Amino acid sequence: TTIKKFENQLVVPPVFEPTVVKDPKTGKVKSHNYSVTISEFTQQLLPAEFPATTVYGYEGKVRDPETGEIIPDFRSTPGPTFDAIRHIPINVQWINNLTEPHPLAVDPTIHWANPNNMPMPMLPFPPFPPGFPLAQSPVPIVTHLHGGETEPSSDGYPEAWFTAGEAITGPDFIKSRYHYVNAQEPTTLWYHDHTLGLTRLNVYMGLAGFYILRDPHNPLEGKNSKLPHGKYEIPLVIQDRSFFDDGSLLFPNNGVNPDIHPYWRPAFIGNTIMVNGKVWPNLDVEPRQYRFRILNGSNTRFYNLAFSNQMPFKQIGTDGGYLPKPIQLVSLLIAPAERADILVDFSQLTPGTKLILTNTANAPFPNGNAPDTETTGQVMQFTVLNKPAVVPPPLPKVLNIIPPLKCPVKIRTLTLMVVGNPTKPLELMLDGQTWMAPVSELPLVGATEDWQLVNLSRGAHPIHLHLIQFQLISRQDFLVAQYTNDWLALNGEPPLDHPTKVLPVKPYLLDGPIKPPAHESGWKDTIQAYPGQVTTIRVRFAPQDVKFSVPGINRFPFNPAAKPGYVWHCHLIDHEDNDMMRPYKVRNPFS
Ligand code: C2O
Ligand code: CU
Repeated sequence: TTIKKFENQLVVPPVFEPTVVKDPKTGKVKSHNYSVTISEFTQQLLPAEFPATTVYGYEGKVRDPETGEIIPDFRSTPGPTFDAIRHIPINVQWINNLTEPHPLAVDPTIHWANPNNMPMPMLPFPPFPPGFPLAQSPVPIVTHLHGGETEPSSDGYPEAWFTAGEAITGPDFIKSRYHYVNAQEPTTLWYHDHTLGLTRLNVYMGLAGFYILRDPHNPLEGKNSKLPHGKYEIPLVIQDRSFFDDGSLLFPNNGVNPDIHPYWRPAFIGNTIMVNGKVWPNLDVEPRQYRFRILNGSNTRFYNLAFSNQMPFKQIGTDGGYLPKPIQLVSLLIAPAERADILVDFSQLTPGTKLILTNTANAPFPNGNAPDTETTGQVMQFTVLNKPAVVPPPLPKVLNIIPPLKCPVKIRTLTLMVVGNPTKPLELMLDGQTWMAPVSELPLVGATEDWQLVNLSRGAHPIHLHLIQFQLISRQDFLVAQYTNDWLALNGEPPLDHPTKVLPVKPYLLDGPIKPPAHESGWKDTIQAYPGQVTTIRVRFAPQDVKFSVPGINRFPFNPAAKPGYVWHCHLIDHEDNDMMRPYKVRNPFS
């Protein structure tokens, strides 16, 4: 059955309503507290002629945007939005209420949460031997605030998962009431599931939502803000999905190497595009400027976004805050987990105009198939209403001052690679090492480091580090085949269970370094590492807002060296689950 496009209307997720905790003496707000439940339910993702879809989502107290009334138990995917205020910490009690078996095929042969402690089945499989315990039940979850400067015990460590009622907990579980300090710059963050070996399935089922951090003291956001706000500021999460005719979510369960991993595949590519939990929605817009906080929440698909009339738009923010100045673009390449804060001016368009937000990125990126112009080449539609045009006020020339990070004390050279046949990979590796291998990235708190991401594979990988926002230094072409051969000769064939020997990239570099384009010259927590290139990022293991940091001095309002530490990984979540994720720990010289 063909799915009609633009029949759905865009839905903006409502905002979670906090319980405000005040200091009884001073009356000052101490924290905003929330309780959020993860559960399974049905939601209309497809147009009305299709049945509703079984999804996972987040449930809690929200305020109805229309009536202003409180709804105590609203649930949706994407989940309701956290509207956080800078310097007001929030506490979230995360509750797992998933009591049915997982609707998607859980692969018990990759490194995963494994709540039932299943033994590794004997080859070949499936079928699994009779009486073999199910991988599907119970369903573990753990929530990560992506881009957040968060204490380790609240960061959603992949092995800090827990099942319904916290009946079974992962080896690194500490607590389920998480604390977020909200000390960093105002920006668009997002929360999503991060369970070891299940992230791709839990996020695909719907476990993702926005977390917008606002700063009333920032002139761009205060009372006199010139930026579109209220109903003219809309978060948009773009996700590709596939469906069965009965409306249920289709996630392939034919593994690419079925006798080794029965279900796991390296790249999920859906055949429909969903925005804010509606497939191919339309949004009626007034002829004026809008602010869209765009998140690519897909498993693997990149989007190269443009408007069907080729009209320009402005990017004002990246993952971690405002750009130094607005950047005019006609297209924007956005990888899974990246955010782009953009301004779009509809004021010059005739009422009745219908614009399509189009996508031209190959999937997988960059060497996969071009999107179908009739389906995955289209994201959503904007219809301009017949209302008086409002011409936007001029933007400030300076949006943000971003001090360049300086003087790295260490350079790490880290490879991104495929194990096995590139078209039928067995798994993917960061620096050739498994998730299990001992921690090899141990930066000193306060230190600045350059991480050279040496991509030996044919695909682009969005690489993400927890805890910090970093800066892109450069990308540079290099001799891939020579470097790969020499690296393998030095270290042996991955997967490796020990730290690798460094093979300096310098002798293999080609041409000159490519400086970051203007729209990537801001704070980033996820960076596109292209094939054939060394992507160098500069990371300071200190809070984003400190002017200077000293290696060994902790300026975080918590101990970043505490258990269970952090992770860095590829944010193609099909890669992350097998096994393109590594633990990292911040060292504190005094602990
Ligand atoms: Cu968006 Cu480690 O995650
Ligand atoms: Cu990857």
